[in-house]
Amino acid sequence: MVQQKATNITWHGANVTKEERQQAMGQKGCVVWFTGLSGSGKSTVARRVEQLLLERGVAAYVLDGDNIRHGLNKDLGFSPEDRTENIRRIGEVAALFADACVVTLTAFISPYAKDRDQARSLLPEGEFIEAFVNTPLEVCEERDPKGLYKKARAGVIPQFTGVSAPYEAPANPEITLNTAGETVDETAMHVVRYLADKGFIHID
Ligand code: ADX
Repeated sequence: MVQQKATNITWHGANVTKEERQQAMGQKGCVVWFTGLSGSGKSTVARRVEQLLLERGVAAYVLDGDNIRHGLNKDLGFSPEDRTENIRRIGEVAALFADACVVTLTAFISPYAKDRDQARSLLPEGEFIEAFVNTPLEVCEERDPKGLYKKARAGVIPQFTGVSAPYEAPANPEITLNTAGETVDETAMHVVRYLADKGFIHID
């Protein structure tokens, strides 16, 4: 739990209501929180969803694990504490994006249930959508797109999720995706349809 460090700071509310902002932007924001093992397809699916939404005129944006670790979180590694801090910061950023009415798609392993719950707690009910990319470890390892499982098995990469570090699967995710028997488009469309069903977007 990160403690408040600064003193003499005051929270300033916006001059516009949430409804006024949504009306001006022509859409509602939310967070689709993809979680799953490395190589499960989180980023691939999130990027396709982003593309499908943008094609339909919906402002969407992907926050991606590997990319965020090049910038905002470049000071963090893969210890349990650093992963928690990684997800804490992303949770805050994602909540801000959603507040700005963007359909925000996050693609982080986010292995700890309590960290995902903390990210959920920053959003109003219904606006945090946990999407479990339920690709079995064997399939992720078979794909091994970055060659990392091989290195982890060889002991070159320590604390590798699924090999030498834990992954806590979500107990009650809003969406469960099975990428193994589907195309990327099929998987992405499950998410697009969910967003349409819940009224975040309108599709024909
Ligand atoms: S998280 O656990 O803190 O949520 P995050 O999604 O940001 O992880 O980053 C995971 C990515 O970092 C993986 O897809 C992989 O490319 C890379 N990576 C490097 N080392 C590790 C490791 N020890 N465990 C998991 N992923 C790692």
